[in-house]
Amino acid sequence: MEKHRIAVTRTIAQPAIERLHNLGKITIWSERQPPAHIQLMQMVKDCDGLLCLLTDCVDDHLLESAPRLSVISTMSVGYEHIDLEACRRRGIQVGHTPGVLTDSTADFTVAMILSVARRIPQAVEYARSGLWSTWDPGLLLGHDLLGMTIGIVGMGRIGEAVAERITAFGTNLVYHDRIQRTDVENKLNAKFVAFDDLLTQADIVTLHVPLTDQTHHLISYPQLKMMKSSALLINTSRGKVVDTEALLHALLNREIDAAGLDVTDPEPLPANHPLYELPNCLITPHIASAGAATRTKMAHMAVDNLLAGLKGVPLPYPVA
Ligand code: GLV
Repeated sequence: MEKHRIAVTRTIAQPAIERLHNLGKITIWSERQPPAHIQLMQMVKDCDGLLCLLTDCVDDHLLESAPRLSVISTMSVGYEHIDLEACRRRGIQVGHTPGVLTDSTADFTVAMILSVARRIPQAVEYARSGLWSTWDPGLLLGHDLLGMTIGIVGMGRIGEAVAERITAFGTNLVYHDRIQRTDVENKLNAKFVAFDDLLTQADIVTLHVPLTDQTHHLISYPQLKMMKSSALLINTSRGKVVDTEALLHALLNREIDAAGLDVTDPEPLPANHPLYELPNCLITPHIASAGAATRTKMAHMAVDNLLAGLKGVPLPYPVA
């Protein structure tokens, strides 16, 4: 087999990396922080294959400097960091890792819903603080899920997996998507509603859309105003789907009750950001798919895509 040059932009699961040995020259970026754009350009300039992460911006400029590149494989389901049009023009195949992280991400979303609804981070803080002196019938009251209306924005794989799980809590489901999912409606008794209706009806709005021009700031001032003042907003999709300033304003003014964010804009959210100060905002560092087994499977899928691309055959998991 012809020897290849491959760039891998971070240390990923070792068994997946081992499948690349003997293929040729592999350069692995072993720092904890991602390579800067200029460093990434340097890494890929002579490469045939690139295995990257969602933190790597693969734009036209980078592709221009990497004329041998025939495949880009991102170890993520989202691929908004890759200029697909520029890849198409150059005949570069692009693959991602759909499906494998659905359950992990849905589990985490439900964990976040419960944590925000039942104020678990505040409760932990309270117990630790030494303030816990008695059983108090009014202490840290949260939202019961039973009978709540959950609004799922984006009924794709992850939205559906969240819907499946959350109905076990006795909730009602409404959803909005570009396409109506009659299969999910029949299976889970979910009701398709217009986006604005979802915002006004839902007690919990949970976001499961990819980041596109259409979904950028899908939730901003007007949408937050439409939501119930008792509502919770959960985002495990992409930070830029929510307008951060608008959310801060809505939480400060109690236009909505609370939020749970696994993704932020900017990301990472700087340590001094005022959102961290709010007791009604739970922020986690983009870990919804971070099950150990899931991350290993993602690494293998990314390698499957890379190997197919280097062989010049269609990728098993191409981007849409
Ligand atoms: C995670 O956010 C992913 O896109 O895989």
